[in-house]
Amino acid sequence: MTAAGSRPGFALRPAAAAAQAAGGERGQEPPPAQAAPQSLPADAAVDLAAERKVLRVDAVLDALDAELIGLVPVKTRIREIAALLLVDRARARFGLAATPPSLHMCFTGNPGTGKTTVALRMAELLHRLGYLRTSKVVSVTRDDLVGQYVGHTAPKTKEAIKRAMGGVLFIDEAYYLYRAENERDYGSEAIEILLQYMENNRDDLVVILAGYADRMDTFFASNPGMSSRIAHHLEFPDYSLNELAAIADLMLAQQRYRFSDEAKTTFRDYLARRMDQPRFSNARSVRNALERARLRQASRLVAAGSDLGKDDLMRLEPQDFLASRVFR
Ligand SMILES: Nc1ncnc2c1ncn2[C@@H]1O[C@H](COP(=O)(O)OP(=O)(O)OP(=O)(O)O)[C@@H](O)[C@H]1O
Ligand SMILES: [Mg+2]
Repeated sequence: MTAAGSRPGFALRPAAAAAQAAGGERGQEPPPAQAAPQSLPADAAVDLAAERKVLRVDAVLDALDAELIGLVPVKTRIREIAALLLVDRARARFGLAATPPSLHMCFTGNPGTGKTTVALRMAELLHRLGYLRTSKVVSVTRDDLVGQYVGHTAPKTKEAIKRAMGGVLFIDEAYYLYRAENERDYGSEAIEILLQYMENNRDDLVVILAGYADRMDTFFASNPGMSSRIAHHLEFPDYSLNELAAIADLMLAQQRYRFSDEAKTTFRDYLARRMDQPRFSNARSVRNALERARLRQASRLVAAGSDLGKDDLMRLEPQDFLASRVFR
């Protein structure tokens, strides 16, 4: 196939052909990023900015910036990976093909720091860049991979891998796969199988391990084979109070709510207290607090009864938060 137009550009295969190339059952998958780029003569030039547009890579990266507060090191790494894959595509067109980079990853951080959310974005990005056939993320934990009896683990693990093939296998709290105290635990069998697939299917499966940093370190120390196959370790730090407040603003705007000026102050006070309490889980705690505030606002409005304008329906007031047990 040759590029359309006089100057070789980044014209892609028509969408239909690409969808077919990506496999029939995945016909509903988004854009034709999968299409193999056409080869170019040695004296041609590529336009990476145009390529980014065609693949709608910037759309994913911009959404990541706009919809996720903070996480600067995570965002930086994602941009680096995007750049690498773009350059790889361009190189391939000049016949400079190299083995695809290994993109298995590990996301460490406390609950509610955005690991699952970023995994979904990552899958989307890798799909657009043609690294993955689909943008699907199959999320599993130990129970989905490890059986209770002899002979149960291999089929279970392989079934999960099969479901994820072409996309991302996201293993939450991955360290539970390994139980140091029990040598005969079937978890090691699941790990062995995972390792095989991570090595042999590295261009068709991205495995993301997620969990707390300290336990993940212990897990890697006991499983050097796993550690050595993970190319990217991304740390998700706890959010600062300012970041949590910004996350709240973002969540409310997405749901068409807003804080009154006083409620904004009350909510910061709420956060400061909540952060010091048990089971605080970062952005998830923010989401839950806002959900409960919506409930209280609704009761308040229903009690008020009449003459409610649009802004009344959108506005959260201090009392919607002050009833929380965090203030007791
Ligand atoms: N930086 C952020 N900006 C805006 N919203 C965020 C951010 N991080 C997380 N969230 C939101 O917080 C909620 C929890 O995030 P997510 O489920 O990704 O966390 P997690 O790290 O996977 O948590 P867990 O370890 O408990 O599984 C989601 O609703 C997500 O949209
Ligand atoms: Mg999660």
